[in-house]
Amino acid sequence: MEFKKRILCIGAGYVGGPTMAVIALKCPEYRVDVVDINQERINAWNSDDLPIFEPGLLEIVKERRGKNLFFSTNTEENITKADIIFVSVNTPTKTFGEGAGMASDLQYWEATAHQIVKHAQSDKIIVEKSTLPVRTAEAMERILKMHSGNIKFEVISNPEFLSEGTAIKDLLEADRVLIGAHDTKEGNSASQEITDIYRHWIPEERIITTNLWSSELSKLIANAFLAQRISSINSISALCEKTDADISEIAHAIGSDSRIGNKFLQTSVGFGGSCFKKDILNLVYIAKSYGLYEVADYWESVVTMNEYQKSRFVRKIIKEMFNTVAGKKITLFGFAFKANTGDTRESPAIDITKALLDENVRVTIHDPKAIENAKIDLKGIDGNITYETDPYKAAANSNALVIATEWDQFKDLDYSQIYKSMEKPAFIFDGRNLLDHKKLFGIGFNVYPTGKQQLTHFS
Ligand code: UDX
Ligand code: UDX
Repeated sequence: MEFKKRILCIGAGYVGGPTMAVIALKCPEYRVDVVDINQERINAWNSDDLPIFEPGLLEIVKERRGKNLFFSTNTEENITKADIIFVSVNTPTKTFGEGAGMASDLQYWEATAHQIVKHAQSDKIIVEKSTLPVRTAEAMERILKMHSGNIKFEVISNPEFLSEGTAIKDLLEADRVLIGAHDTKEGNSASQEITDIYRHWIPEERIITTNLWSSELSKLIANAFLAQRISSINSISALCEKTDADISEIAHAIGSDSRIGNKFLQTSVGFGGSCFKKDILNLVYIAKSYGLYEVADYWESVVTMNEYQKSRFVRKIIKEMFNTVAGKKITLFGFAFKANTGDTRESPAIDITKALLDENVRVTIHDPKAIENAKIDLKGIDGNITYETDPYKAAANSNALVIATEWDQFKDLDYSQIYKSMEKPAFIFDGRNLLDHKKLFGIGFNVYPTGKQQLTHFS
């Protein structure tokens, strides 16, 4: 079949894979190739056991794979043939040199730009899909223009706003699609070509076009604002625990104001995930690099508050268990950074586990999907850790349960049976306010919610 255009995506990860699957589904007249340097990942994309779990993804991949959706490691040939190249390689926080721990490590991005120049034989639109520091496109353009001869590259920013677990829904029913381009004839025409892709299923009014720098920066700011709401509510949860105000009641009361809105007001043990911390630290680094120290400090405090919430939670566990936790068994229900994913990147459970191990606690970890990743995260860490797929076995003989992830299935467990199997006094520290605290208290547990009055049997 003759295709109208060829789209290539470099990087078959959490972002590239689902995004391209949906584009292939909605634009059957385009050929979509997804390439990656990791052969194993590509093999998985070509099987029924995809490398990432997202509800609805497998069905779409199965429908389009081999028709207009192709996964391979054949980067060079695909660069040569592509009209539009999305770049979705990872941009982790730098671990070395200038900006270590804050700035984005752009080595994969730069290597990709060099590879594109080397193999391109015709004009191309290059789309930044990875989250990048503002003005990255400028550096990319320099590399692309350096050796391009007569070939023209137009760099466009089209950031992703996918949330893990709902990536397909976020793509199909996007609140908005953001496309940033230079305000030149070439820039506007490239922006139109990318808009044409999304027009296949996104209503026109939800496609926002901006200048290149606004688009790049908007992605960082969207994540910074979301994370800021969580740090704000978490900071108030600490105050609630001192004053007997109730954080859920406050979240409901303030969230009912349409100017504030009710989303991202759920208190927690702290936010995790691959993006929030990385993107905020990147924003902090950028602000500092322009000498905007007050701006940098303001946003850094969002991360500081998140670290405080995690350490405050562990301090509470230790204090409430009579300041003697060494040798006791504490079981974590949940290790993923949020429910409905096996992803544990930056999960607060990692820090909680490490802090408990430092206190010589015997830690047992139970999670419906994240045990394998937990093992990788905690590899080489000294201490007594066990992993248990059965929640009842995990809880048996524990002194305390810690709810670290808000998995729905934790709500349906038989807590009377669990209580009977535990050491007494039995404690529950609910870092997600997931469970029915009054009911647990009635069973006999000493219950420590987050940002709410504790329910204990001690006089
Ligand atoms: C990544 C970035 O981390 C995020 O900031 C951005 O918004 C989108 O891209 P994600 O898709 O979650 O997010 O990353 P990951 O799952 O690690 O996928 C990146 C893929 O790129 C990996 O499969 C990796 O093998 C591949 N890659 C990396 C290449 O194909 N070539 C490279 O040179 C480097
Ligand atoms: C986030 C953004 O939502 C998404 O738009 C962006 O593209 C990538 O980063 P993700 O990391 O998948 O997505 O998860 P998200 O649902 O935003 O949750 C992030 C963290 O915040 C989780 O640890 C979650 O448990 C926590 N959270 C979320 C809260 O603690 N309280 C809330 O009210 C909401």
